[in-house]
Parts: sequence; C-alpha cells; structure tokens
Amino acid sequence: MDILGISCFFHDASAVLLRDGEVVAAAEEERFTRKKHDYSFPLQAIQFCLAQGGTRAEDLDYVAFFEKPFIKFERLLFSILQTYPRSRRVFQEAMMTWLTEKLWVKKLIQDKVGVPGEKILFNEHHLSHAASAFFCSPFDEAATLTIDGVGEWATATYGVGRGTEIKLFREIKFPHSLGLLYSAFTAFLGFEVNEGEYKVMGMAPFGKPTYLDKVYRVIDVDSDGSFQLNMDYFAFHYSTDRSFSHKFVDLFGPPRDPQAYFFTPDSGYPSYFGDKPGNYADLARANQHYADIAASIQVATEEILLKMAHHVYKETGLKKLCMAGGVALNSVANGRILHETPFEEIYVQPSAGDGGGALGAALWAYHMVLGHPRKFVMEHAYWGQEYSAGTIDAFLRQQQIAHQRFEKEDELLAQVVERLQAGKVVGWFQGRFEWGPRALGNRSILADPRRHDMKDIVNTKIKFREPFRPFAPSILVEETANYFELPEPARHYPARFMLYVVDVREKQRDVIPAITHVDGTGRLQTVNSQTNPRYYELIRLFGEATGVPIILNTSFNLKGDPIVNTPEEAYSTFMRCGMDTLVLDHCLIDKQES
Ligand SMILES: [Fe+2]
Repeated sequence: MDILGISCFFHDASAVLLRDGEVVAAAEEERFTRKKHDYSFPLQAIQFCLAQGGTRAEDLDYVAFFEKPFIKFERLLFSILQTYPRSRRVFQEAMMTWLTEKLWVKKLIQDKVGVPGEKILFNEHHLSHAASAFFCSPFDEAATLTIDGVGEWATATYGVGRGTEIKLFREIKFPHSLGLLYSAFTAFLGFEVNEGEYKVMGMAPFGKPTYLDKVYRVIDVDSDGSFQLNMDYFAFHYSTDRSFSHKFVDLFGPPRDPQAYFFTPDSGYPSYFGDKPGNYADLARANQHYADIAASIQVATEEILLKMAHHVYKETGLKKLCMAGGVALNSVANGRILHETPFEEIYVQPSAGDGGGALGAALWAYHMVLGHPRKFVMEHAYWGQEYSAGTIDAFLRQQQIAHQRFEKEDELLAQVVERLQAGKVVGWFQGRFEWGPRALGNRSILADPRRHDMKDIVNTKIKFREPFRPFAPSILVEETANYFELPEPARHYPARFMLYVVDVREKQRDVIPAITHVDGTGRLQTVNSQTNPRYYELIRLFGEATGVPIILNTSFNLKGDPIVNTPEEAYSTFMRCGMDTLVLDHCLIDKQES
C-alpha cells in the first residue's frame, strides 16, 4: 500500500512516500527548487518520491495532507474580524492567496498529482506533528508534546500515543503561541523569522537573562505550562509584516538593525567583518543588550517547555516523550527536558517542523485511519535523492574536472583524514540527502574540531556566519560519553539528528574548541556504523590518526542557499567559496592553487 504525504503553504513544503507503513522517500521542496524554505506546492518533491518508489500517481492508494485548510481559513477570518480595520492588509492578502489556491488543496492535488478526490485525506495539523514523532519512534506508548507557531487553531498540544492510536487531550489555541512568541523576538533581534531562530539560540549564551521579568510581562504562564500572550505587545494577529507592537518596543527598546553586524565583547569580531570600527566598544556594548534579550527569551522558552513536559508526564505517567512542531527544533530546550524532567527517553524526528507534517499525515492515514499495525522506526535521516557512481563519473568527465577516483574506500578515507589533519575544509557528498534542516554526513562540510582557529577558518572561507553561532560535532556513538554529558548515548535518538545540546565534558573543552560553544556545550550528532557506515569509518579513522573521534560538521551550502542536492550543485558551491577539497562519493577533487 502506497500513501503519499504532503505539507505546504505555510513553512517548508515537503513530500513523503510511505509503503506498507515504511518510509521509502522523504524530501523538502527547497532542495529541488533551490528556494530556501520553499512553501509552494511540492511538485518536485512529490515527483522525486514517486520515482524513488518506482510508482506512479495513479497507483497511489491515498494522499494525506498535513492539515485542514478550511478550519485554518476559518481561524484566519475570525482573527481578521476581531482586529479589523488594523488587519485590512492581512485580509486583502489572505483573500488573494487563499481564494485562488490555498483553500482548494483537494482540487490542486487532483490536478497536479493526478489522484481522484476520494483518495485524498486531510488530517489536523498538530495530530500530523504528533504522528510524525510517535509513529517514527521505537516506543509502544509515550506522552506527546507538539509546539509550533500555529496550525489550524492549535499552537501546542498535550497527548498520549499507544500502539496505533494518538489522543490529544489538551490544546493551547491561537493567538497564544510559544512559536510565534519566539519568532517575534527573532524579528526584534534583526533575524529572519523561520530562519533566524537558531541564531537567537546561538546568541543566548553570550547574554544574561536580565530581561526575564519583562518577557513574563508579555506571556503569562501557569504551573502546567499553559500560557497566554498579552496581545497588546504583538502584531502578528493583524499585520503581515510586523510581529511585535509599539508597546513591545516601549518595553524592550528599539529593535536591532538587521543590517548591522551582531557581535558582543565575548563573541569577537571576525576578520570577514572587515576592520574594526572606531566605535567598536560602544557597538559591542549596545549589542550586549540584544544578547541579554536573546538569553531572556531562550531561558523563558526553556522554562515553559520544562513546565509543559512536567505536566504531560504527570498526566500520562509515561517515561517516554515524543515531541514535534517547530519549537521541538530548539535543541537547547530538548537537552534540558531530557536532563531535568522524569522522562528517560525522548524521540524527535529530524524534520520536526512543518516539513515533517507530510510524514505525520501519511503515518496517521496508515495507522489511525486504516488501522494497520506499526513496524517502522525512523533510525536515520537519509531519505532524499542519491546519485550513482556512474552519474558522478559522467559529470566529472563531461565537465573535464581533474579528480582522483578511488576503487578502494579506505584509500579515499585516508586521503580525506590527511587533509582534515592539515587544516583543510572538505566538502563531503555521498548517498541520499538528509530529511530535515540538518546535514548529517551526506551533504556536509567537514573540518578538524581540535583547532582553536577552525571556526574562523570555516566562516572566513565558506559560511560567513555570525561569530556567535557554534559549529556542530559528529562523534562515534561509542565514544560520546567520553566527550559529552550524555550517558548511554545510543538510546537517544535526538542526538542522532543534532537535536540535543548538552555539556561538553569539562576536561575535553580545550581538546575540541572549534565545536565547544561559549557556555561549554555542543550540539552533537552521534554516528553509528549501521546507519552511515562510510561517515562512521571516516570519523573512526580520523580518531585513529588524532586520538579524537570527532569531526566538525556543518551543512553543505553557502549562506542563504538550501543544502545542496546534486553533484553539480556541490561542485558549483565548492568553486564559489574557499573550500579546499571536495569528495563526490568515490571521487576526490582538490582545489588547484591559482
Ligand atoms: Fe506546525
């Protein structure tokens, strides 16, 4: 039985093909259209999924959409009416996009995919989130927690999953939303919403939560984690381009200029920012205020999530927790939930945001609508498109690109280890691309984590990221407890997907400075030999050569681009930046010195 899951029209659009309850293919549309966070109808992702599964649209048994457009539209109209006439522009824009496209999803799927209406099912947004986590987890029963910006009406739900059923027993409704609160602060701090949330999280350890009391003036939180926003401080419910109000500015001061460099006295001023300005000290001090605001909203978010987690534990009495929704990508909060609540195991799948809704909708249809038993666990994130050795050979030949071709994998890996040790930055492209926003060793840029200057090198040559953002480590799962405060790492799925931030062991912080954040933490990826044998072997060999079985891993893209999909994109990215070496599957290309 083949079920196609689809999500689109809000954040990341994606498609998933489920065959007899097991994932065959899953991908976000942005990887094909090359438009970051593309939310348009995911035609190319659908075509990829069908091709990967060797099937045709007419042979699909069902198509499941991740939310209910009519209920969402109702919420939109309701909130527009409540805030009219301030919401006049939202009304105009909503009418244009909803009446021309977003409302008629069924017809769109019929026309664009070619599936009859009776095969198309619609699930609730937060039930899709919950299903995407619980039905991918190894747990027979678990508490569920979903937290995002907003679905139809719900912005967060508490639930319980047992076997093939999920019951959401409580929800928090729009406009009260933890995701939209975090996004309002993201915008206030000068970052793009739905993209800059990681930057807020990265900046937070450079500040102190001195504005926590002010944050709690814009959000009221009960002991069970339920919350209410004070809507006087927000504008997202009536504006298309502003998420916070004048009153918010009165409370926190003027927003940060998005064009200005963001650095603090502790973050340093990297060379790619140019020469230090004359008023550097004043600017650094001014930025410290924003870092303190970042720390305050991050700590508040963590505290609220901890309360929610405690409450869902109390209600269910279960020791396992499944989380989804955009806020479940807050890996710092996830690490705290593991360490500070009675939950012993947590499951978050790699595409925990709206992209994952496609996965949840398909699994919901298979288990909850059709009643089939479970047999799938999402053990890894490698569900995207791959390119054969023959395709890569043909590409390099046609483009006349000088390269070394390796028949024996260990010889290639030895060459890569040698270059990493020499301080080179290596593009690493192999197998199927990852599901979700993180690169996990198939479309990654790799470097030596032991060097103090490596963060600056990677940033100066390639990423040009803000100096306060940490890079992540990939580590052999068996070695993890030696370097990180994460006992029994093999049990913890979120660590496979870079969804936990935990402390680096104190004595190891100087050993791996390039991936240790200013507060002594790391957003680790545990790598095991079953799910990515080649990447595992590379890290193992690097460990054999250096004594440190860890590699710095950042996503294979330039600033503002989606992560690469094809060998052509990998090569063109390689040529447009200061990357030293590119590995395309079994081939190695060194950049010629000019
Ligand atoms: Fe969502």
